[in-house]
Amino acid sequence: MARAAGFRLSMTPAPVLFLPRLFAEAMIGALASAGDYQAMPRSLPEHLIRIPDQGVTESLVTFADRFLLDRALPSSRVLDIGCGRGVFCENLAPRVRSVLGIDLVASEIAHAQRHSRQSNATYLCQDAEYLQALPGTFDLILSRFCFHHLDLDAAAPGIKARLRPGGRLLVVDCYQEFWSLAGRLYVMRSALEQLGGLRMLALLPRLLYFFDPKRVQHVVEDKRRLKRQRRYRYDELAGFYQRYFPDARIERLGCAFSLDWRKPSRPVGGELFPVGEEGQPGIMQAN
Ligand SMILES: C[S@@+](CC[C@H](N)C(=O)[O-])C[C@H]1O[C@@H](n2cnc3c(N)ncnc32)[C@H](O)[C@@H]1O
Repeated sequence: MARAAGFRLSMTPAPVLFLPRLFAEAMIGALASAGDYQAMPRSLPEHLIRIPDQGVTESLVTFADRFLLDRALPSSRVLDIGCGRGVFCENLAPRVRSVLGIDLVASEIAHAQRHSRQSNATYLCQDAEYLQALPGTFDLILSRFCFHHLDLDAAAPGIKARLRPGGRLLVVDCYQEFWSLAGRLYVMRSALEQLGGLRMLALLPRLLYFFDPKRVQHVVEDKRRLKRQRRYRYDELAGFYQRYFPDARIERLGCAFSLDWRKPSRPVGGELFPVGEEGQPGIMQAN
């Protein structure tokens, strides 16, 4: 794991490996079932079409969990943005005061609610771009592999409003390296280390999901949008995110990146925001 931070895209093998991979993806994708998609509400952008992966991704991308778990204090009220089926919320709940997991996709939230084993974990179908609608504030807002979906012009003000003064935002998310072949191998290797061979074997049949043509298209569109917004390459993404969360600490984490930001305890050129914990005013920092 210590090698994770030094992981580089340059590890991606040359085009020799690219063509067979493309061929394999096309073949397997063509064979995969295409009738099982949960579409986002119509008003949402096309790139947010969610392909149900039956929790496979959530089970695999655990390499960054230590970063999040180690920073969650026992007294924290936590909001998990884009919680999917709540796999991470369920792991986190025993360590903190409460967890609210939100996701845009109703079927994912319904699944999380049905399978939840933690009395202090709750789940809500809620768009992260409209967090002003959510009551109360949180000590910690975190997000695991969801931020790349978000329009931060819409989401960042709500995130800041929902964080108590002095509260913390922790994000783990994808960039260029995550989608490289080396990135995929990194995810599989770390999942194998953490889940063990038997649980990985159980997931294998469902890995076909990675080759589903609609998923491949979804990833292509995600990448195109991230490139356009200059948050695809590591050397650009700090500039992008720090526009919304000034002085955020951004580092490589395996084949992903982490973002760590604290909301100032006092307003810094900020304004009073009228919704806070139990009706108390919260502080929303001006951008
Ligand atoms: C790649 S999955 C990550 C799920 C889970 N957090 C994990 O770590 O595996 C991204 C999740 O973000 C959700 N999502 C995308 N846009 C969202 C939005 N605007 N508001 C809330 N959730 C969103 C998707 O529905 C999906 O469940």
